[in-house]
Amino acid sequence: MKLSIINGPNLNLLGIREPGIYGTENYESLCARIRDFAQTRGIEAEIYQSNHEGDLVDRIQAAYGNADGIVINPGAYTHTSVALLDALKAVGLPAVEVHISDVSAREAFRQISYVREACVATISGHGTDGYLEAMELLLERCRA
Ligand code: DQA
Repeated sequence: MKLSIINGPNLNLLGIREPGIYGTENYESLCARIRDFAQTRGIEAEIYQSNHEGDLVDRIQAAYGNADGIVINPGAYTHTSVALLDALKAVGLPAVEVHISDVSAREAFRQISYVREACVATISGHGTDGYLEAMELLLERCRA
């Protein structure tokens, strides 16, 4: 099984960025943990991060015919991007939305998720473990 793991703006600054909210683990360490987990589960994981909305759209499109599922943390684009929603709908792959923080307990503007409508599940507030949970969920879904 092949998964495309897509991260939006500012996730490259994990560890530096608001550690009280996002924790102290840096992005490289998160990527290493995703790769290790993928290996133990026989998953091929392609990890990508961009601060640019169009690049994220391109990456979602590139998953079509190339991956079995998508794990996406769109960062702030979660709350603004119809383009990411449309891209996820267009490729029609099972996608899981991940947020490190518990967005439901944060500001009102974070309560809206455009991408959610195109996702089979949302994992929010489980820290960076949420990425691994999302991968496991897609694996189980694929095996069912
Ligand atoms: C986030 C939550 C978003 O509201 C925020 O803009 C982010 C990170 C999270 O992982 O908790 O950049 O997606």
